[in-house]
Amino acid sequence: MTEAPRAGTALVTGASAGIGRELALLLARDGFDLILTARDGTRLHALAAELTERSQARSTVIPCDLSLPSGPRELAARVDDAGLAVDILVNNAGMGAAGPFAELPLERQLSLLQLNMVSLTELTRRFLPPMLQRGRGRILNVASTAAFQPGPYLATYYASKAYVLSLSEALAEEVRESAVTITALCPGPTRTEFFARAEMRASTLAQHTVMDAAAVAAAGYRGMMRGERIVVPGVANRAAGLLVRATPRSLVTRVVARLNRGRTSRGSDTSAAG
Ligand SMILES: NC(=O)c1ccc[n+]([C@@H]2O[C@H](COP(=O)([O-])OP(=O)(O)OC[C@H]3O[C@@H](n4cnc5c(N)ncnc54)[C@H](OP(=O)(O)O)[C@@H]3O)[C@@H](O)[C@H]2O)c1
Repeated sequence: MTEAPRAGTALVTGASAGIGRELALLLARDGFDLILTARDGTRLHALAAELTERSQARSTVIPCDLSLPSGPRELAARVDDAGLAVDILVNNAGMGAAGPFAELPLERQLSLLQLNMVSLTELTRRFLPPMLQRGRGRILNVASTAAFQPGPYLATYYASKAYVLSLSEALAEEVRESAVTITALCPGPTRTEFFARAEMRASTLAQHTVMDAAAVAAAGYRGMMRGERIVVPGVANRAAGLLVRATPRSLVTRVVARLNRGRTSRGSDTSAAG
């Protein structure tokens, strides 16, 4: 039996859970082979088996900690050693850290910045030039609606997502005349392991607007394939974004501070964006 031609190879960071896992399922469904990365190799291998069974996708599993400065270099070297070219890069892995900036452990905040910003930037810098040379490629960077305003009590998380959005929009313009596209996905609160890992609660507000990871991934995937620059899944999240833009920034910051103040799982339950 002859094998169907593959659509290309997609590298997904944070593929072991949540939005990244759903994106991997969509890519496999559409004929892409996968490079799956996250720290938990056992979960990645289980996903790889599922992708083969469901979609005949070939997966390469590369466990890697992208909160370490050496992570992106090691990941890129392993991709190279495997002789793989990356046609689609999904920079999805990310973490949050809730609490007052002055009290959150510095190491945790530096890990967050490395994972959410620096590793994403390094992977983009390593994989974008070959895409430009080959004349095809797509990059999907997972930001957040947190990118749209400052976020007291989740300050480094919101700031990291503002960076991701700004970087993605800037690079999308730089490569405008090429066949490569760069998309920023800005989800609002989404049902994943994110909140538990960040030691914070999903909010009263979020309970009304929270989306499934599959729906968020579907919106991001569609937007990436269309080459859209920014994708905000969900009507409520788009409406909130418009409201933020129409409101003085100092007022927005104060409101977000009130919403975020009780977000640690040790505090009371009130919150806004994920
Ligand atoms: N959930 C939300 O409400 C929400 C809203 C807006 C934006 N986002 C963004 O969406 C993205 C995906 O998050 P999610 O909600 O799907 O959360 P999740 O369920 O916690 O998944 C996070 C993924 O990132 C991986 N990861 C975490 N730390 C890592 C590290 N140091 N090195 C490599 N991989 C690491 C995790 O796998 P391992 O533990 O195996 O490493 C997992 O696969 C993040 O960038 C997040 O900021 C989430």
